[in-house]
Amino acid sequence: MSMRPRVWVTQPVFGDILARLESHFDVRVEADVAPRAADALRAGLHDVDGALVFIPDRIDAAVIAGAHRLRAIANVGVGYDNLDIPALTAAGIIATNTPDVLTETTADFAWALLLATARRVTEAERWLREGQWTTWSFELMLGRDVHGSTLGILGMGRIGQAIARRARGFGMRVLYHNRARLAPELERDCAATHVARNELLAHSDHLVLALPYSAQTHHAIGAPELARMKPGATLVNVARGGIVDDAALADALDAGRIAAAGLDVYENEPAVHPRLLACRNVVLTPHIASASEATRRAMVALAVDNLVAALGAGPHAGRPPNPVNADALLARGGHSA
Ligand code: DGY
Repeated sequence: MSMRPRVWVTQPVFGDILARLESHFDVRVEADVAPRAADALRAGLHDVDGALVFIPDRIDAAVIAGAHRLRAIANVGVGYDNLDIPALTAAGIIATNTPDVLTETTADFAWALLLATARRVTEAERWLREGQWTTWSFELMLGRDVHGSTLGILGMGRIGQAIARRARGFGMRVLYHNRARLAPELERDCAATHVARNELLAHSDHLVLALPYSAQTHHAIGAPELARMKPGATLVNVARGGIVDDAALADALDAGRIAAAGLDVYENEPAVHPRLLACRNVVLTPHIASASEATRRAMVALAVDNLVAALGAGPHAGRPPNPVNADALLARGGHSA
C-alpha cells in the first residue's frame, strides 16, 4: 500500500493543473460537480492528509471530527467563510486561500454589473427578446449615469481598491468605508476618500460591496442601511451572500427606494430569493465574478501550490504561500513532512 500522503479534490477542475498533485500525493478527484453535504465531506476527509475544496464546501468542526490524518485544507477562493478557522486551527490543520490572482478579474466584473445595473442592460435585452420592441421611443429604458457620479465602495481591500482605480476613466468621485483607513499613498492611488459608513450610504450614487463575510458583516446592508441610501441609487454585491439582507433588498427595490441592484452572490445560493427573481430591476449572475478562464486556472494553481507546501512537499515545503491560520502552522513547528 502506498505511503504517500493522500489528497482529496472535491470538484473535477483543470486536470492539467491538478496533475501536479500526483507527483507528490495519491489523489482522489470527485468525478462530478455536486453539492457536498456534511456527510459527504466527512466521508471524503476521513482518510486523507489534505484536501482542495471550493467555496460551497462547508468545512466545520463536525466535518473534520473523524479526519485524524487531515493536515491541510486548501480553499480555492479568496473568501474562506466556508471554513471554520478556529476549529481547523484547534485541530492543527492549516487552511489556505487564493488571494491576489483574482483581484483584477473580480474588479472587472464589479464594473460589468455596475454598468449593466445602472444602464438596465439585461432588463432591456429581456424585453427585446420578448418581442416587445415595436416602436423606438425616446424615453425607453432610461437609466442612471455612471460617468461623473459618486461611486461608494464598502470594503476597501485589494478588490475594492481595484474597483476604485477603474473609476478614474469615468470621472467619478470615489468614497469608501473600511474598518481600517487606507495609507495615504493608497488613497491617492485610488483617488478615494474615506468616509463614515452612514455618509457612504447617503452620498453614493452607486454602492459596491467588496467586504469579506463574517458574523460582523452579516446583513451589513439591511433595511436600516437601505433606508439610508441615496434615493434612486444602485447597489452592487460581488462580495458574499449574507452581507445583504435579500428580503430587505427586495422590499427596497419594490418600493422604488433604490433604483436597481446587481448581484453576483446570495444569502442561500445557489437558491435565489424568489422576490429578487421576480424584480425587473435586478441583474442576477451566478457567483462568477472571478470566472475568467485565466483567473480560475490561476486560483486552482495557487491552491495546488498551497496544498503541496502545506503537506511538506515541493520547493516551499512547510511554507504555503497563503496560510489563513498561521497559528496552526506554528503549532506544527512550521514543517510537516
Ligand atoms: C472567492 O474567491 O471568494 C470568490 O467568491 C469565488 O471565486
